[in-house]
Amino acid sequence: MFGFVQTVNGEYEPPGDKSISHRAVMFGALAEGKSRFENFLTADDCLRTVNAFQAMGIPISLETRTRALEIEGKGLQGLKAPSQELDLGNSGTTMRLLLGILAGQRFEAVLTGDDSLRSRPMKRVTKPLKQMGAQIKGKDDANYAPLTIHGGKLKGIEFENDLASAQVKSAILLAGLYAEGKTRVFEKIPSRDHTERFLKAAKAPFQKEGEWLSVQKASRLAPLQAKLAGDFSSAAFFITAAAMLEESRLLVKNVGLNPTRTGLVRILKRMGASIEAKVKEESLEPLGEIQVTGKRLKGVRIAPEEVPSVIDELPVLMVACALAEGESLISGASELRVKETDRIHSMAVGLNSLGGKVKELPDGCLIEGIKTLHGGEIDSFGDHRTAMAFAIANLASEGEVTLRDTDCIKTSYPSFFKDLEVLKKA
Ligand code: S3P
Repeated sequence: MFGFVQTVNGEYEPPGDKSISHRAVMFGALAEGKSRFENFLTADDCLRTVNAFQAMGIPISLETRTRALEIEGKGLQGLKAPSQELDLGNSGTTMRLLLGILAGQRFEAVLTGDDSLRSRPMKRVTKPLKQMGAQIKGKDDANYAPLTIHGGKLKGIEFENDLASAQVKSAILLAGLYAEGKTRVFEKIPSRDHTERFLKAAKAPFQKEGEWLSVQKASRLAPLQAKLAGDFSSAAFFITAAAMLEESRLLVKNVGLNPTRTGLVRILKRMGASIEAKVKEESLEPLGEIQVTGKRLKGVRIAPEEVPSVIDELPVLMVACALAEGESLISGASELRVKETDRIHSMAVGLNSLGGKVKELPDGCLIEGIKTLHGGEIDSFGDHRTAMAFAIANLASEGEVTLRDTDCIKTSYPSFFKDLEVLKKA
């Protein structure tokens, strides 16, 4: 990769949303009848979810050209025991949400994944699911995969989602569809609400009771038809590049604008960016356009309560902070340390090796902005979002940057480099 300060320009449509695509497969499989979702994300993580449900007897077909996914839902009790362990690759969302669904099944299944997934904490999900009545076994008190789960008779619990994790919340709500009595989840800081939107659309017995989310045992879920929103978190790489690289002009179309996901837009505005988001339609979720024009940005403070709405965008936001005028502080983001890699560490190491001034803190980082980065060699640490964030840093560096291990990008955004090339040329 050869670096010299560049711009990104033109019109662009991100691929389908990863979080929503996972849920589309899951809700489609548990519904009664045929569901169809356009703009499904055909990246490795979501294909792992498809494979897992196919292995449990659900017919799923994917039209590769149009990326339309059709699922023959077999109902809440229609899954079959898989004959082999389910290998979920790198996908934390698949593992955590699937544990919630399997907690309600009367069979045993074994869930495993790659080295990264096998080192990610699962007790946050397995502990409350065990309280609900599931039997789950795995290393360190069911904290690490491989996990063996035997579901069955569940009872509702009251659960406080202290980590502000949408994956944990979703696992409990999905298990709640199988539990006697009410299952209630409290969120002090709201996390992404895709599962709640699916529950409502599928006509599940779900409601909000003040700050509590409440679900009851369901007899059936309705099948769904929808076009899935473009992935805001994938678009975030180009949105941030366009915002911080002078003379860039970018129009992002068909992108998800769920407010629980768009903290990046609000934070870039505070950094002085010229950025406007407009909702144009609703299709399970709000979606629309974002217009960005580039200029030098200012440093910013990101508070703990903002973190869930920007959790997957923090790596690329660290790049913007590294190149902004003045100091930036990110705090309350210790969850970043347990993503596909420790993203505070991997981003700090990479940016500092290009001349950045990033100081790690236990729950975030302090960044002193500089004008440009220089060349160097950086490692993605096998983390897709770290790799893509460094590819954006490369656009703002004046020397040659060699980025190692970019294969991981296929887990969420297989066409990333193709899109980058088009936007660089436009
Ligand atoms: C996701 C939730 C987030 C996010 C992940 C996808 C989801 O994780 O980082 O990429 O689809 O629910 P946590 O909820 O665990 O923070």
